[in-house]
Amino acid sequence: MRSSWDHRGVLDAVLDWYAANARDLPWRDAECSPWGVLVSEVMLQQTPVARVLPQWEAWLRRWPTAPDLAADAPGEAVRAWGRLGYPRRALRLHAAAVAITERHDGRVPSEHADLLALPGVGAYTAAAVAAFAFRARHAVVDTNVRRVHARAVTGAAKPAPALTSAETRLAADLLPADPETSARWGVAVMELGALVCTARAPRCPLCPLLAECAWVLAGRPAHDGPARRAQAWAGTDRQVRGRLLAVLREAPGPVGADELAAAWTTDPVQRGRCLDGLVADGLVQPRPGGRFALPGT
Ligand code: ADE
Repeated sequence: MRSSWDHRGVLDAVLDWYAANARDLPWRDAECSPWGVLVSEVMLQQTPVARVLPQWEAWLRRWPTAPDLAADAPGEAVRAWGRLGYPRRALRLHAAAVAITERHDGRVPSEHADLLALPGVGAYTAAAVAAFAFRARHAVVDTNVRRVHARAVTGAAKPAPALTSAETRLAADLLPADPETSARWGVAVMELGALVCTARAPRCPLCPLLAECAWVLAGRPAHDGPARRAQAWAGTDRQVRGRLLAVLREAPGPVGADELAAAWTTDPVQRGRCLDGLVADGLVQPRPGGRFALPGT
């Protein structure tokens, strides 16, 4: 425990702030199923809330339970993923749905170890589902939480490039003892990072931790590590893969190589490499006659 911190005061300040300021998001509703929570956490890992909301709602309407998704082709998950980006997540969610159906009678397991054993579910997602869906005591450490901890506790403008064991330990130290309170603490710190303690222009005057924040008390020193490169998009393989997948998503059945070629005419070598990559990742299946389709569709 940080001895310099008034731990109760910090806890209450953050929980009160959350009660007054949290966004009303459907996966935070007490009525939301564990499956809904799992889908939200996979979608939110690399995509902002505003883009996730409509896709999440459509997904849950179409596949309200894990067995509903497991009964459909993996390619339908890729199609419904739309433009959320990083579409391998759609395949992983489908694989998780199959495993939930086969191993857990169609119900998302509540135990962290069982969650972690699902395909494509890592430490973050397992902790988030255990905490948010089952109100269990697990530290949930995403990029927003890491930034709040880095500033408020460590006094650094930004966290390390990748999660360190010191950060994991700190998150465990800060976790309230009571499970329900710890689950609320996790989402409250996450929300504080998303709405107030933002990466670029933190709104410190609105922060419930302003008086305790180690970074503010140190005079808000600038980040002293290497700058992170912004991810380029135009002309990258990610863009080309997105174009190829968009053609396959919108087609009712298998498409020919000529249709795919029209999706990216700038560089045929790059296009070929990207199509090979999509096939290797299981996102696209070759079909007879030089055609291609989403898997199982
Ligand atoms: N609420 C619960 N989990 C969340 C997440 N990963 N991002 C934003 N809001 C959330």
